[in-house]
Amino acid sequence: MAAASRTVSRALRSLAPVVQKRTLVAASAARATIVAPRVAVAQTQTRGIKTIDFAGTKEVVYERSDWPLEKLQDYFKNDTLALIGYGSQGHGQGLNLRDNGMNVIVGVRKNGASWNEAIQDGWVPGKNLFEVDEAISKGTIVMNLLSDAAQSETWPAIKPQLKGKTLYFSHGFSPVFKELTKVDIPADIDVILVAPKGSGRTVRSLFKAGKGINSSIAVWQDVTGKAKEKAIALGVAVGSGYLYETTFQKEVYSDLMGERGSLMGGIHGMFLAQYEVLRERGHTPSEAFNETVEEATQSLYPLIGSYGMDWMYAACSTTARRGALDWTNKFKDAIKPVMNDLYTSVENGSETQRSLDYNSAPDYRAKYEAELEEVRNMEIWRAGKAVRSLRPENQEK
Ligand SMILES: NC(=O)c1ccc[n+]([C@@H]2O[C@H](COP(=O)([O-])OP(=O)(O)OC[C@H]3O[C@@H](n4cnc5c(N)ncnc54)[C@H](OP(=O)(O)O)[C@@H]3O)[C@@H](O)[C@H]2O)c1
Repeated sequence: MAAASRTVSRALRSLAPVVQKRTLVAASAARATIVAPRVAVAQTQTRGIKTIDFAGTKEVVYERSDWPLEKLQDYFKNDTLALIGYGSQGHGQGLNLRDNGMNVIVGVRKNGASWNEAIQDGWVPGKNLFEVDEAISKGTIVMNLLSDAAQSETWPAIKPQLKGKTLYFSHGFSPVFKELTKVDIPADIDVILVAPKGSGRTVRSLFKAGKGINSSIAVWQDVTGKAKEKAIALGVAVGSGYLYETTFQKEVYSDLMGERGSLMGGIHGMFLAQYEVLRERGHTPSEAFNETVEEATQSLYPLIGSYGMDWMYAACSTTARRGALDWTNKFKDAIKPVMNDLYTSVENGSETQRSLDYNSAPDYRAKYEAELEEVRNMEIWRAGKAVRSLRPENQEK
């Protein structure tokens, strides 16, 4: 799609100085030279709570501006946040809480990979780094950031220690699928969720850049009448910018769907299908990779992310636009049944069972590594490595 790329590059070049120097509003105004300006998004605001019209459906969004640091610190002044597990989310949320001045401690298995990583990040054994049980005993809010399989495995030991505490999750997985996970939560505690919509590394990097990640919040049980407020405040404290209200069930269904579908599994499948056809029809690895992945990730997908699908279309050649518009529905019709199968498999617990079975096996890390090695060794991704090495930023000066 070279013609399209050229057009995109031209469009970007003409916008670049404006986008870099001004706000998104200014950038939107600038792109109005390419496409007609859109109607502004309707919103009403009462302090940090916004009602936003999402394509005709009004939803409430909470934002961190209502929780300045002093207010957050005051709100949690009598709390100890016991963050259990130090994987991707534990790292990001834990360091953000610490930098926000919260009284946060980490609980992980002694001398495991996470224990050592926590020490490298400045957590001190006996001061703010403990074994899981000890951390729980000290906490008023228990933030369960173990892997989802480990939450199920460790539940019999954790459950009796929760009396009088608030229980926090970053995924609805354990309570929603309680018949499978056996995470049956006592009825007398607040249970809340803050699920950042991104990896823990992004939770941390956005926080360090002075921005916040989007997160979902939800309440499973509100015993004190304060559960929702706690979820919002904790959402801000762990580094969220905007908080979208949902339920535990909707969060876990949509999350399992997304990662298996268009975010990861689906897009990988689509890349492989297109790459294989191009290769089978005589195209070189570099050409097949460039037309399947490189142009997508480097040129077109960022445009969708910044300005939307219509803008991406408008920035491409008329030839590209015509073909893409014609083929969209063929792809949608082919893929939608698979998406429906996937949703059913999420809803009926099959995906949860598979995840629990696989990720509880003692050798699950080695098995993953073997599967990832297979991906790494696929021709498409080896070709990708070579293509990336030729990007201007990766070339020796
Ligand atoms: N990763 C994401 O991008 C993301 C995004 C949003 C929400 N979430 C949710 O956040 C939660 C945490 O996910 P994560 O990806 O950060 O964690 P993870 O990497 O899946 O979990 C790792 C943590 O679990 C511990 N662990 C594993 N098995 C254990 C066991 N049997 N006993 C005690 N500890 C055990 C590990 O400790 P050792 O090092 O000692 O093994 C490590 O600290 C999950 O509910 C997940 O769904 C994740």
